[in-house]
Amino acid sequence: MGKVKIGLLGMGTVGTGVWDILKINKDEVLRNCGYEIEVSKILVNDLDKERNVDAPTSLYTDDFNEILEDDEIEIVVEVMGGIEPAKEYILKSMAKKKHIVSANKALIANHGKEIFEKAQLENVMFLYEASVAGGVPVLSTIRESLAGNKVEEVMGIVNGTTNYILTKMAKDGVDFNSVLKEAQDKGYAELDPTADVEGYDAAHKLAILGSLSFGTNIDLASIYREGITKITPIDIEYAKELGYAIKLLAIGKDRDGDIEMRVHPTFIPLDHPLSSVGDAFNAVFLKGNAVGDLMFYGKGAGDMPTGSAVVGDIIDIIKNRSS
Ligand SMILES: NC(=O)c1ccc[n+]([C@@H]2O[C@H](COP(=O)([O-])OP(=O)(O)OC[C@H]3O[C@@H](n4cnc5c(N)ncnc54)[C@H](OP(=O)(O)O)[C@@H]3O)[C@@H](O)[C@H]2O)c1
Repeated sequence: MGKVKIGLLGMGTVGTGVWDILKINKDEVLRNCGYEIEVSKILVNDLDKERNVDAPTSLYTDDFNEILEDDEIEIVVEVMGGIEPAKEYILKSMAKKKHIVSANKALIANHGKEIFEKAQLENVMFLYEASVAGGVPVLSTIRESLAGNKVEEVMGIVNGTTNYILTKMAKDGVDFNSVLKEAQDKGYAELDPTADVEGYDAAHKLAILGSLSFGTNIDLASIYREGITKITPIDIEYAKELGYAIKLLAIGKDRDGDIEMRVHPTFIPLDHPLSSVGDAFNAVFLKGNAVGDLMFYGKGAGDMPTGSAVVGDIIDIIKNRSS
């Protein structure tokens, strides 16, 4: 039985999920790719941090070069987040002919073009399923199963925190700030919630989703963006009386080459499947000119759902690499 060695950049929420899945689902992974996957090094910031994961301390390092210079590591899994040094580490790993898996939506939305070009230049694979809708396998489906379609429209609830807040406001009639505070207390929302509640995170995901769906590089700055901070319980009540739910939607449309991309709170008819996507769940609704309407639904965050997408990408690379 062969072995493929990988290096993990980061052992936070997603890194922990990846480690646990590779352990719990060892047999399934082996059956699905024909190789044992071994995490041979793990890069972290703080070597002394207490971690809720059973990886041996001998695997940890705070020196990226230990991963870069290890020729046995074929795949680098970037689950550290942020723009730098994540971007530098990805580009340097590609130059060493290592394949990359990343969950980093902010990085891909801002610097995807440069990263894709480098991957092509170095003839390595770069997969990023977890960057949009966490565990929901929407990107690989668009790339592979829907490759025979012209995608005309994608519409998604791609930010779990804002969907949780809007769902709770609608159910309990409470205002935005109270629900946000409760979500922060429970750890569902960041202490600085700007990226979520102002729609930046959803815009990052829409840039990635739109670029893949419409086969073009979407400039993040061209996406209209509006968050949910101005929504009141009265807005939600009125919407309901008129037969609508209010959701933060990421919307991309290709009207004969004229591409429209926007993120904003939207009235959705109560009989539309996206209106019933509640709590922190994500969903992506897509229209292809051959397949018609499709909807993907599931968990958009968390260690195991996000880890599921990352491990899927690792297996995909192992099955498709040339060596
Ligand atoms: N959390 C989710 O559910 C989710 C879902 C989809 C996508 N993502 C994406 O996945 C990525 C990781 O998210 P996360 O929630 O797992 O983050 P996290 O819990 O904050 O973990 C980040 C990890 O990276 C390490 N790290 C950060 N900067 C570093 C540096 N400069 N040098 C070395 N190590 C560094 C940290 O080390 P220490 O542990 O020592 O601090 C930590 O282990 C992000 O791009 C995020 O957007 C997350």
